[in-house]
Amino acid sequence: MKIGRVTISDRASAGVYADRSGPEIESALREVFGGEAEFVAVLVPDEAPLITARLRELADQAGCDLIVTTGGTGLGPRDVTPEATRAVLERELPGFGEAMRLGSRGRVPTAILSRATAGTRGHTLIVNLPGKPAAVRECLELLAPALREAVAHLRGEAPH
Ligand code: MTE
Repeated sequence: MKIGRVTISDRASAGVYADRSGPEIESALREVFGGEAEFVAVLVPDEAPLITARLRELADQAGCDLIVTTGGTGLGPRDVTPEATRAVLERELPGFGEAMRLGSRGRVPTAILSRATAGTRGHTLIVNLPGKPAAVRECLELLAPALREAVAHLRGEAPH
C-alpha cells in the first residue's frame, strides 16, 4: 500500500511556515490503513503545471494506490488544486467532496467554501482535502470507510 501525500501551498513550499498538514495526512491515514502503508511526501507551490506533474508522477511512475492532497481548494486567486486534479483524473468521484462539505458543515459553516474533488487515474485514487491541519483530520475521519472501500476496489481486493 503506497500513499502519496501532497501539500499544496506557496508559503509552506517557500519555507514561510512549516508544513503541518502533510504530516497530519500521514498520521490520520496510518490509523485508517495501519502500519503497512508506505508514504511519499511532496510539497509544491500553488502552480497548476507543477501540481499536475507531481500527481501524474505519483500515480503513473511511483504507482501510488492513493494520493491525498491538502490545500488550494478555496477561492483565493492562487487556489488551483481542483482544476489541476481534474486535469489528471480519468473518472471523477464527486461524492468525496460532497461528503466533506456536508459532514463538516455543522461544525464549520465555511466548509462549503472548499471546492475539493476526487477521482481515479488508472488504479490510483486521488482525493483533495482543504489546507488546515484540523480540516485534514476532520475530513479524513469522514471519508475513512469510503477510502478503504475505494482502494480495495482499485487494488482488485474488494469482495464483490
Ligand atoms: N473543512 C473542515 N472540515 N474544516 C475547516 O476548517 N475550512 C474551510 C473549508 N473546509 C475547513 C473546511 C475554509 S475556511 C476554506 S477557505 C476552504 O476549506 C478551503 O481551504 P483551502 O483553500 O485551504 O483548501
